[in-house]
Amino acid sequence: MSVAAFDGAPERGTINFSVGQPSADLLPMALLRGACERFFAGAQPLELNYGERQGDPRFRAALAGLLSNAGGGEASPQSLMLTGGISQALDFVCGRFTRPGDTVFVEEPSYVYSFQIFRDHGLKIVGIPLDGQGLDIEQCELKLAEHRPKLLYTIPAYNNPTGQTLSQERRERLVALSRKHGFIVAADEVYQLLHHGAPPPASFGTLVERGNVLSLGSFSKILAPGLRLGWIQCNAELMGVLTASGMLVSGGNFNHFTSHLVRQLLENGELTAFIAHLRSSYAARAEAMDQALRTHLAGMATWQKPQGGYFFWLELPGHLDTEDLTAAARQAGTGFLPGPACSMAGGQKNCLRLSFAHYTVPDIHDGIARLRQALSG
Ligand SMILES: Cc1ncc(COP(=O)(O)O)c(C=O)c1O
Repeated sequence: MSVAAFDGAPERGTINFSVGQPSADLLPMALLRGACERFFAGAQPLELNYGERQGDPRFRAALAGLLSNAGGGEASPQSLMLTGGISQALDFVCGRFTRPGDTVFVEEPSYVYSFQIFRDHGLKIVGIPLDGQGLDIEQCELKLAEHRPKLLYTIPAYNNPTGQTLSQERRERLVALSRKHGFIVAADEVYQLLHHGAPPPASFGTLVERGNVLSLGSFSKILAPGLRLGWIQCNAELMGVLTASGMLVSGGNFNHFTSHLVRQLLENGELTAFIAHLRSSYAARAEAMDQALRTHLAGMATWQKPQGGYFFWLELPGHLDTEDLTAAARQAGTGFLPGPACSMAGGQKNCLRLSFAHYTVPDIHDGIARLRQALSG
């Protein structure tokens, strides 16, 4: 086989905007090759052994530097624990803080693959609507009168799928609610550093000392998804619960070796430069998608151009069901993620998600022209 495959890979020749992964030209082959060479040039054999439960302290110091420079205050290495990425972290957090039958609040709509993680843990999922500016805090308060959630899962910067970002004021209200009602805010901040222009409000990592907050980060979107490396930032009390896990007691953190490689890129500033490159590449792609949509879909759909992240969220006329349109899209050589996949209740039927991360600017123009063909057929 000549190319790497992944579940749900697009058919050859199609421009399938459901794919939320970087295109080949944005994957850091040379950077990682250099990182491997530098690591092995200076490595001690003992670095290939197990390690600490929170992860390598040198790595955590370097990561704290990256997060502190991103703004909002100093991140301390003690507040950080490495993970196998956000999906693994979410599964781990559910295992540490919930029991089957507990309730989790999620955004409606939210990250397509989060729902199964919650279901794997036997959690009852309750949706809280977004209102154009992220999670609707008033709706959340109303739901808190009916339910006692253990967790609230939010994607506060450039929400997947809608691109919406939560204001600082709402973030603080949410943290206050978490203290009052005794639930944990699990903030999935996978797109926090991928802003196209001005940065979003400071991450939930800056709020961890105020209460029940877990800030979940990942190298998937700022370096390479296949590394499966990320982090959790939280206060000492929650860290104590996380690090008491039997899995961590057996061998320490989840991914020592990969963390040694990525540390090379953190320490010499290459990661910071790479993130800047990604931001400008994704900004150009978002601009291209916005222009293509205005050319081909004006009057047929509405959308807000996202200020960061990977996605456009399109709303079509209310009588349309985007799941019924997938066959026509495939026929036209394109694709999208239908809205119901992003809804815990199978709602959002007239909406669809488009990722601009997996294709170059010319392909984006071509693919949106194909989408128009599919939607007009
Ligand atoms: C909102 C959100 N969370 C988590 C992930 C997956 O993160 P990871 O690769 O770190 O598991 C994605 C990937 O698309 C995502 O969009």
